[in-house]
Amino acid sequence: MSVLDVRDLQTHFFTDAGVVKAVDGVSFSLDAGEVLGLVGESGSGKSVTGFSILRLVDAPGRVVGGQINFKGQDLATLSNREMRSLRGNRIAMIFQDPMMTLNPVLRIETQMVEAVRAHHRVSHAAAKDRAIRVLARVGIPSPADRLAAYPHQFSGGMRQRVAIAIALLNGPDLIVADEPTTALDVTIQSQILAEVQELARETGTALIWITHDLAVVAGLADKVSVMYAGRIVESGPTDDVLTAPGHPYTEGLLGSIPGHGRRGERLTQIPGMAPNMARLPVGCAFAPRCHRVDETCRAKAPAITDIGPKRGLRCFHPIVETEGAA
Ligand SMILES: Nc1ncnc2c1ncn2[C@@H]1O[C@H](COP(=O)(O)OP(=O)(O)OP(=O)(O)O)[C@@H](O)[C@H]1O
Ligand code: SF4
Ligand SMILES: [Mg+2]
Repeated sequence: MSVLDVRDLQTHFFTDAGVVKAVDGVSFSLDAGEVLGLVGESGSGKSVTGFSILRLVDAPGRVVGGQINFKGQDLATLSNREMRSLRGNRIAMIFQDPMMTLNPVLRIETQMVEAVRAHHRVSHAAAKDRAIRVLARVGIPSPADRLAAYPHQFSGGMRQRVAIAIALLNGPDLIVADEPTTALDVTIQSQILAEVQELARETGTALIWITHDLAVVAGLADKVSVMYAGRIVESGPTDDVLTAPGHPYTEGLLGSIPGHGRRGERLTQIPGMAPNMARLPVGCAFAPRCHRVDETCRAKAPAITDIGPKRGLRCFHPIVETEGAA
């Protein structure tokens, strides 16, 4: 059984400017220990997808359709109390800003011990012991001493490691990581990525890693879903998608990564801007920026179709593999 099965998720924001379909029919599933990279430009709906899974979407937003099955249980049917007992326990989230997790006025020890004891009837000493072990695991030197510190006494990278440790504390089945390393320098980013990946493998934790950067996903994720304007436009095993992208948008994202273009080719940017989500075009949302667009694309929106084992694509005129080799 999958750890997580998201089917046709729809999360809309009811704003003065109109209904914004931030997540418009998103589906994916994750097995134990599997890592999914959820990729797309700013505003494509990645965070709202993550927040929807944890039931953390606030007004004017609302999940208006679809199912989120977590270990066979539809999360929409749980009471708020049941959902709170899952959050931080079976399902955890890591945010871009670690201060979304950490309380600035409490020592790390207090926060970590409380995070364990909110869900498990264990002594302070046992919870503290667990905290020390997890802090060591995410690379905090002298963890027993560091427990006495406040969040501001850590560097940015170390603070994010503490937030990651809190997510791992109760050995969750699922972690949703929303760009947690984007603000860090490249070396620390890759260290943290490698550590989190290893931990997920060891413990069987399923991981959703949200990022705007396909290069991050390349070394981390088993599979990737590319989002554009609230929809998944391409998905599949990471290597397959990166070596032979079928969607012009994925191709565009890859073109802006050093070393991924064809030899001798300059890095390219996707022309145009991310769309206004309150006023999407009638047809394919990517049409105004697409070099393969024709009248069909402008007239109606493509559906997602299977193009091979575990691969989905939402495009009328996908790139076929032989073109890249020509
Ligand atoms: N509170 C809100 N009110 C109205 N619209 C919102 C709100 N939050 C998000 N949206 C809409 O949802 C869309 C998706 O937002 P989301 O935060 O998921 O994007 P993202 O892919 O995570 O982008 P980023 O890379 O910048 O974090 C946005 O384009 C915006 O139009
Ligand atoms: S459907 Fe048409 S406009 Fe949309 S990505 Fe495919 S080719 Fe481009
Ligand atoms: Mg986001």
